[in-house]
Formats: sequence, C-alpha cells, structure tokens
Amino acid sequence: MLPGMNLNLAGQSVAVFGAARGIGRAIADGFIAEGCSVRGFDREMSADFITAGDVTNYEAVKGFAADFEAVDHLVFCVGIGSGKFGFPFWNLAPSDWGRVLEVNLIGAVNVAHAFAPRLIERGGGSMLFLVSVAGQMGSQTDPPYSASKAALINFTQCAAKDLGPHNIRVNALAPGMVKTELNQSIWAAGQKLLPEAQRQSFDDWAKEKIKKVSHLGRWQMPEEYAAMATFLASDHAKNITGQTINIDGGQVMHS
Ligand SMILES: NC(=O)c1ccc[n+]([C@@H]2O[C@H](COP(=O)([O-])OP(=O)(O)OC[C@H]3O[C@@H](n4cnc5c(N)ncnc54)[C@H](O)[C@@H]3O)[C@@H](O)[C@H]2O)c1
Repeated sequence: MLPGMNLNLAGQSVAVFGAARGIGRAIADGFIAEGCSVRGFDREMSADFITAGDVTNYEAVKGFAADFEAVDHLVFCVGIGSGKFGFPFWNLAPSDWGRVLEVNLIGAVNVAHAFAPRLIERGGGSMLFLVSVAGQMGSQTDPPYSASKAALINFTQCAAKDLGPHNIRVNALAPGMVKTELNQSIWAAGQKLLPEAQRQSFDDWAKEKIKKVSHLGRWQMPEEYAAMATFLASDHAKNITGQTINIDGGQVMHS
C-alpha cells in the first residue's frame, strides 16, 4: 500500500472465497497484513484459516456466513474455466456451460445472498467480486467463462443499487493476465487443439499473448489485486460502488 495511506482496517472481519491460492490467497494475505481477521472458504484447504467447501453448495455457504460473530467485508475470488478452447464456440458443447456458470455466477450469488443479511445487521461494509476483462469484450477464449463474468458484472450493479441504502458498497475487480494457475489451464486447453509442430511452452505462449493484449507488456501479479481490494474495503473508497475496476495493463479501456 502507498506509504502514508492508512487504510484503518485493523480489527475488521473479512471473508475471502477462493482463498487457497492465486489472487484470493494474495487478497487474504493483504487483509491479514492490514490487521484484519480473515476467514477463507475454498474447495481446497491450503491454510488453517480456510474452511473447506464448494461455493455452489448454498447450505455450506450459509453455514459459513452464520459462523461469523460479525463480518465487515467479503471478497469473491473463485473462478473456473471450461477447460476447453472456444475458437469457435462449437468446440464446446452446450453441456460444457453449466458448471462454469454454476461456480462463477451462481456461486457469487449464493455468497451475496448468505452475507447480505450479515452486512446489513452490521450496519455497513463491502462486497467485491473478481470478474475478468473477458466479461467486457466477448472474449472467444472460453465463451461460458466470458458470459459468467459479464453476468457477474451486471449482478454487481444490481447488488450495489439494493445495498447502497444499507451503507454497503459492491464492486467488481477485473484482471487481465495474472501469473496464477488459471492461465496454465487456458494454455493447456489451447495447446491440445494444435498440431505438435505449432505447440508452445507455457512461457512462450504467455509472452506472445501478453505482448498482444497488454499495453504495458507485463504480467499482472496477485499482490496488485490485494492492494486494490484493501483500498476498496477502506473508507478512502466510501463513494465507490457499482464499479468494475480493471487491473489489466490497459487491455480494456472504457470510454
Ligand atoms: N489469473 C488470471 O489471469 C485471471 C484473469 C481474469 C480473471 N481472473 C479471475 O480472478 C479470480 C481468481 O483467479 P486466480 O487466477 O487466482 O484462480 P486460481 O485458479 O489460481 O484460484 C481459484 C481458487 O478458487 C477455488 N475454487 C474453484 N472452484 C471452487 C468452488 N466451486 N468452490 C470453492 N472454491 C473454488 C480454487 O480451489 C482456487 O483456490 C477468478 O474469479 C478468475 O476468474 C483471473
């Protein structure tokens, strides 16, 4: 965080979904570094602050929400791809869409439903949903993934309108190309379709893609999302709601 910018988050309570690794783990660590009490939820358990569970299981998510004495902020960092490559979209079957929408969209909706009453009873707070540049430009790489993120951006706006009067802010954070395991699966799905001679190593593929999509020409790193997530939870962001904020090297520029 910027020197001299005191976020005043110490003692606040934060729920992070998808906290086992990648961006979610960095965001959990960022809040811990600010002195927050952080509890994670993930289908994998990689640390003792994480409760094992699947965000598509509404009862499990509700049970997790009920377990908090009080909660101030939630961050939803769960996301999966279909594991297939969408150029053209009929590389996928309609049946490949269900699980992606269930996890990326309905999972987020489950979390919002379970936690809204807890934040309302607290008298304020924030929700942050990790979306993607893919949800802002009809990205063909994985159409169900793009559609799930576009829908989540829209739901973020609905939730921000409903929860504004309760002093709860709701925003979305959109990454472009972040150095996490998620990109490994996108690379692997694409390589499978190529003849042997055209296949690339992960590093070569990433270098070429970053050069094409990022005006800054470099990977985004998970810690950059932690800096924004903690800022958005703080009072410095008290007038920011319903927004989709991109940390993407300029891949998408809003007019
Ligand atoms: N990495 C990128 O380049 C990139 C780009 C755009 C958007 N995003 C988005 O950012 C978010 C974080 O991405 P990441 O790169 O850290 O991904 P990641 O795959 O490294 O981590 C995702 C986490 O979610 C957990 N998870 C997956 N399905 C779950 C389920 N059903 N229930 C509970 N937990 C589940 C995984 O176990 C994992 O810990 C995701 O929403 C992703 O779509 C990432």
